Amino acid sequence: MIPRDNHATVVRGLLARNPVVALLGARQVGKTTLARKLAGAARRAEFFDLERAADVARLTDPELALGPLRGIVVLDEIQRRPDLVPALRVLADRPRSPARFLVLGSAAPVLLRQSSESLAGRIAFHELPGLSLAEVGATALDRLWLRGGFPRAFTARSTSESASWRRDFVRTFLERDVPQLDIAIPPVTLERFLSMLAHYHGQVWNASELGRSFGVSHHAVRRYLEALERTFMLRVLRPWAENLAKRQVKSPKVYIRDSGLLHTLLDIDDSNHLERHPKVGASWEGFVVEALIQRLGARADQCYFWATHSGAELDLLVIDGTRRFGFEIKRTTAPSVTPSMRNALSDLGLTSLDVLHAGDATFPLALSIRAVAAHRLLDDIEPLKSQRRT
Ligand SMILES: Nc1ncnc2c1ncn2[C@@H]1O[C@H](COP(=O)(O)OP(=O)(O)OP(=O)(O)O)[C@@H](O)[C@H]1O
Ligand SMILES: [Mg+2]
Repeated sequence: MIPRDNHATVVRGLLARNPVVALLGARQVGKTTLARKLAGAARRAEFFDLERAADVARLTDPELALGPLRGIVVLDEIQRRPDLVPALRVLADRPRSPARFLVLGSAAPVLLRQSSESLAGRIAFHELPGLSLAEVGATALDRLWLRGGFPRAFTARSTSESASWRRDFVRTFLERDVPQLDIAIPPVTLERFLSMLAHYHGQVWNASELGRSFGVSHHAVRRYLEALERTFMLRVLRPWAENLAKRQVKSPKVYIRDSGLLHTLLDIDDSNHLERHPKVGASWEGFVVEALIQRLGARADQCYFWATHSGAELDLLVIDGTRRFGFEIKRTTAPSVTPSMRNALSDLGLTSLDVLHAGDATFPLALSIRAVAAHRLLDDIEPLKSQRRT
């Protein structure tokens, strides 16, 4: 087992302060495992798996069944029983409630819509991402890149076992999980859409153009995109626009969030193939963007990219209060300062600009610009101040 103490600590903290905590994340990312660990360490805990008929039967009258429980009460696969939310509200509102509810789910929409309305002020959310560089160790950087952060894909005994686990994952996702979402998209359509996204990975996204090549309206394209984003499969980076005399790009960039799944969708099965593939640069960029966001502890609404029509660009812009951190990602071992970097620095008034590269060392490139070795990311990049715990 790869320890995920950082997440355990965060969730424990949230449970201490909120009657209901939602632990959300992609399928197979390790939600149940983490919840079992938390429940196992608590003095009292109760576990309900809403995909098990026996557990569902125990909850026929939810208030009656859950009312007397104490300690941590886990409700796994809550998206199966959104009708439990009103009961949770009643139970959460009891003075000195003896129980804390930890609800787990892999499809955000139902939960978010229902709970944010009726459980407002009583529920806190924590998203469990795939394994991070900090969890697997910086020496496993290349393995994490190739295989991605789903625990089973990462820990598989061989590269080919990992690849076949990921192929099965995508099939199950399309055949079983997608039909359970409240979106009317045939799995075959979504499968084609997902492969198209893999080919557009890390590119600026033009819904009308994609719609045309896909033979549907740009509204439909947006709907597919939102559906996939809610299943935690995608990272959508919004464009940052500054008040400048330059024309700036106004469409988002889309990444397949997990590099291992990207490789599956592109039929890349080992590191030789990856290194020779035309998408190697895009894959590396997405992987480093995701690793940076995790390391910084940045929320999705703090993360942007920036580009002008005249060619200046910044792969990742992270806003933390009045501070603006810029990141460029280069799959080279000898990064240098480019005019585009100088433009980004001055136009956006960056606090600093880090150029993540594939070489061995971290060193200054110019005033406020550093070259940072990607495998030293954990040593050389500090978490955001607003995220640091005392
Ligand atoms: N920290 C870990 N280290 C190693 N393996 C792990 C870890 N966490 C989870 N796994 C393995 O990954 C698989 C998926 O884990 P788990 O069932 O907890 O995920 P989940 O998010 O609840 O998935 P689902 O949404 O499908 O219910 C399991 O086989 C589990 O043993
Ligand atoms: Mg589970």
